Amino acid sequence: MKQNNSLLLSLSARILSVFLIAMVFSFTIYAEGGLEKNKNFTTLKNFKPNPTVTNQQCLSCHKEDNPGLVADWSHSKHAGAGVGCVDCHVVPKDYPTAFKDHPETGDNWTVQIAVSSVTCAKCHAEEVTEYLQSGHSRGGAQWLAANGSGHGIAMTKLSYGYEGMRGGKGIMPEFMLNKNNKDFDLTVTNICIQCHGTVVKLDDVGKPLPTTWPNDGIGSLYPDGGVGNCLSCHSRHKFAASEARQPAACGNCHLGPDHPDIEVFESSVHGHIFDTNEEDYDFSTGEQIPGKTVRAATCFTCHMSGINELKPTHNVSLRLKWNLWAPKSFERSGKAETAGFAWWNGGKVLRGNPKAGNPEGPDAARDEMKQACSTCHKETFVDNFFARVDQDVLLYNQYRDLGEKMFKELKAKKLLKADAWSDPFLKLRYYMWHHEGRRMRQGAAMGSPDYAHWHGVFQVMQDIREMQDIYKYRLKRLEELGDPQKVLETEPPMPVVTHE
Ligand code: HEC
Ligand code: HEC
Ligand code: HEC
Ligand code: HEC
Ligand code: HEC
Ligand code: HEC
Ligand code: HEC
Ligand code: HEC
Repeated sequence: MKQNNSLLLSLSARILSVFLIAMVFSFTIYAEGGLEKNKNFTTLKNFKPNPTVTNQQCLSCHKEDNPGLVADWSHSKHAGAGVGCVDCHVVPKDYPTAFKDHPETGDNWTVQIAVSSVTCAKCHAEEVTEYLQSGHSRGGAQWLAANGSGHGIAMTKLSYGYEGMRGGKGIMPEFMLNKNNKDFDLTVTNICIQCHGTVVKLDDVGKPLPTTWPNDGIGSLYPDGGVGNCLSCHSRHKFAASEARQPAACGNCHLGPDHPDIEVFESSVHGHIFDTNEEDYDFSTGEQIPGKTVRAATCFTCHMSGINELKPTHNVSLRLKWNLWAPKSFERSGKAETAGFAWWNGGKVLRGNPKAGNPEGPDAARDEMKQACSTCHKETFVDNFFARVDQDVLLYNQYRDLGEKMFKELKAKKLLKADAWSDPFLKLRYYMWHHEGRRMRQGAAMGSPDYAHWHGVFQVMQDIREMQDIYKYRLKRLEELGDPQKVLETEPPMPVVTHE
């Protein structure tokens, strides 16, 4: 009996302390987050449209017009909770995203087409705050920061210049197919933007322009300060958490030769179990209870879930120790991302912070990830696994250094072509980082031997040898000819095999 009492006491003390920690934690989140700095957020929160406007009214036209969309909504938890068209689409007439030409408006309201995360934040402040602190929130800002940073310029060139669209420094004229096309922006809209996002622009009546919308981009920047498309993972109008918990919800962006995370996952043991044991998973709940709702980890388990008493989070960068997409990996010691809040707080495009990760530093990030693994594995297993991951990252960095040494020397001796995509050395330098090097690192970090080796380090090794051949050849020719321009002009074609 006595034992029971003390057990109860210690239990209630624990509950109390968890409660207190949770309170302090959520206080700091909001204090840091400061969603209120965006005045549109406060406007929407306090906005009361004329009481005459109802969902029934919207449905009276749109149920006939858009049966698919309305069916999705009516199957959503929103519909069940009484959250309808009005809650998300009805805004004050002078709101930055107001659609002025909607057939139906009231004294003080109209409809918005471009619904941003500012609207979601009215009811989901915590998810939006976490999202704004994640690497996802810079997805649009980072590559649009064209005029502020060298990095942005390089990215814009990649999309607007190098891909034969409009030309750019060094691009051969015969490839500038879009040079005189006034609508060339529309072709660009089909690529980067659909995964990364862009600045959503509206016409005079508030209809979004085809150069910017629709898009599913993870970090789109809206006229009201909204950042990100919440619908990237839980598609409209079902907005289901159960959908977002499944790997396929990440897989439409996290795939392909440069960040094959879905392929890496599918070829890992976790993916094999997921693909063969559907009955062991229950995505209708966020609770990750082995043997009940989950058998082996999925993307969301490791990167976002509340498994093993971790705090569930919309900040996908929180559990990352390394930056694995960078040309050379480094530890994430840069606290939380700030690009999202820069836009939210005042409409600025700020270059993102590639070092953003866990505000407590890279070791804390690793500890959180390990805490997820420890639900199902023991320390020895987990520690051994990550000891290998870290070595793989460092090995890649050494290859990168070797490549950069040759690159710098060729550059100093003017032995590089102006058009990067016509220069085999520069192409290899790009693939070694952007494709093979990422596959090597991400394959190792998420347990896919095929991506870590055959699509990864094996091809990094091929690249570095081919780079060295070109490097040596150019230096030798420079000795013979004395003029770097001649060396490049007389170089025989050296086709670069793109390694998939
Ligand atoms: C009288 C019929 C009618 C009613 C009632 C109505 N709508 Fe519409 N809605 C339309 C028509 C027609 C359009 C197309 C307007 C256009 O493109 O110029 C439209 C367009 C829209 C769009 C923009 C779609 C797009 O991509 O162009 C949204 C969002 C929308 N309505 C939401 C609502 C909401 C929310 C309500 C309830 C407050 C509502 N509508 C009530 C007829 C109606
Ligand atoms: C939980 C918030 C939410 C609710 C509830 C909601 N919408 Fe939407 N709606 C959105 C978002 C977000 C978008 C996409 C905005 C973007 O891409 O910029 C959207 C887009 C749309 C579009 C344009 C998309 C298309 O495919 O043409 C229409 C039309 C629309 N909503 C109508 C409605 C109607 C009618 C209802 C009520 C049945 C409704 N919405 C309920 C959030 C909501
Ligand atoms: C007016 C308040 C309100 C607004 C605005 C709102 N939501 Fe919700 N949302 C809710 C409520 C209430 C629930 C809980 C429903 C339940 O659990 O039954 C919910 C639940 C959800 C869920 C979880 C659904 C599930 O399957 O468990 C998602 C995801 C979500 N909302 C996304 C969004 C997004 C994205 C937006 C903006 C486009 C948005 N919400 C706007 C009130 C709102
Ligand atoms: C299929 C979706 C997709 C497309 C299309 C896409 N990206 Fe990405 N991009 C991603 C994903 C996912 C990552 C994150 C990879 C990681 O974390 O390892 C990423 C990362 C990046 C990064 C590194 C992160 C950063 O903020 O610096 C850059 C740079 C980048 N992309 C530029 C571009 C450009 C420029 C284009 C168009 C030419 C483009 N991407 C097209 C999905 C895409
Ligand atoms: C609509 C496209 C899209 C979807 C869907 C998507 N992502 Fe991303 N993700 C991106 C892009 C783009 C980036 C790169 C952003 C940047 O660095 O500029 C990224 C980056 C990341 C990063 C690295 C963040 C950092 O700080 O470098 C992680 C981890 C990640 N995503 C995990 C996920 C997971 C897990 C899911 C599914 C639950 C998911 N993503 C769904 C597009 C997407
Ligand atoms: C990278 C993919 C991704 C993006 C982007 C995303 N979500 Fe989610 N969301 C998820 C996942 C996964 C879950 C399930 C989390 C869990 O069960 O712990 C979820 C769950 C939710 C829930 C339900 C939380 C609960 O406790 O039931 C809400 C509300 C929500 N998201 C809102 C949003 C809003 C608002 C945005 C835009 C700022 C957003 N999400 C963007 C993946 C995403
Ligand atoms: C077993 C847990 C686990 C699963 C499942 C998992 N990941 Fe990861 N992921 C990791 C670890 C660990 C890292 C490396 C973390 C570090 O830097 O220490 C990582 C890294 C990443 C990165 C690289 C971020 C960067 O720095 O460039 C992306 C993107 C990513 N994961 C997305 C996904 C997606 C999408 C899925 C599902 C298709 C997924 N992950 C499945 C554990 C997991
Ligand atoms: C929800 C449970 C669960 C979580 C969480 C989980 N795993 Fe697993 N993992 C499994 C299961 C089940 C297997 C297959 C049985 C086995 O080999 O233990 C597996 C297999 C593996 C394997 C291959 C097995 C082998 O012998 O080589 C590796 C590596 C692995 N996990 C690493 C991790 C890492 C690292 C994390 C955390 C980032 C993690 N797992 C998180 C359940 C999980």
